Amino acid sequence: MIIENQAMVTEAVIEAVSRTEDPRLREILLALVRHLHGFVREVRLTEREFQEAVRMVAAMGQKTTPSHNEVVLMAGSLGVSALVCLINNGNNGATETQANLLGPFWRDDQPLSASGDSLVRSPTPGPGLVVHASIADENGNPVAGAEIDVWHSSPEGLYENQDPGQAEMNLRGRFVSDATGRFDFRSVKPAGYPIPIDGPVGELVKATRRHNYRPAHLHFMIYKPGFKTLITQIYAPDDEHIDSDVQFGVTRALIGNYLRHDEPAPEPGLATPWYSLDQRFVLEPGEARRPIAPIRAKATA
Ligand SMILES: [Fe+2]
Repeated sequence: MIIENQAMVTEAVIEAVSRTEDPRLREILLALVRHLHGFVREVRLTEREFQEAVRMVAAMGQKTTPSHNEVVLMAGSLGVSALVCLINNGNNGATETQANLLGPFWRDDQPLSASGDSLVRSPTPGPGLVVHASIADENGNPVAGAEIDVWHSSPEGLYENQDPGQAEMNLRGRFVSDATGRFDFRSVKPAGYPIPIDGPVGELVKATRRHNYRPAHLHFMIYKPGFKTLITQIYAPDDEHIDSDVQFGVTRALIGNYLRHDEPAPEPGLATPWYSLDQRFVLEPGEARRPIAPIRAKATA
């Protein structure tokens, strides 16, 4: 096809991608071209703006390192990660779900811990936290032998991989549920934290006059063959940003019942005040699959 005008560009590209053999890839490419071209027409993108967009996409890649993933942050900041999660879980988006964003900080080599262990691997001042969790299937039967990854930020709002002051794997662990589907651990209460704004995500956040905070949360990933791997976060309701998460991750189903205790903790090594959380997880049937880890290492600085 010889292109004669702007309308024909879209026709030519549609014709070209229509030859894609894989039917799912063809469906995705056709919709991508339709929406991308429609978007350019709707906003009448200028040449200068297009150059700027290309620069931002390239900068996201250049900013991504083994310990930081700018693309994941951008997808979260535009609500795409939340949308993908919500249409693929809870009976394909029909019902409430405990599934949530993976986020950019999961590591797939978190050390195995025994139930009841502490995640604190180097001095980490802050309020203590005791978590009692249980895992059940959709019929309420306990799920034993599930592997549960837990990771979270420090009371200063930094993940171990971002903070040279924390030991390797601090505030990270992997547990196995017991015969009653339960596992417990101790830690410190995570704080909400700012996402990095020294790259393209920062340009977006500043331009849209938003704050760049995520409310405090614990990350969990629950893996057991026969069940869809549950990736989730449990948010602290007392966080001032609980209803304005920069990553649009908080849903009502994921606001945890964190209880504050002002009396001394029953176990040694927990600072007062301390918090407790009783959390129940329900697994949907489906395919067990660990995601691709967004980072592989701790920052070296
Ligand atoms: Fe997080």
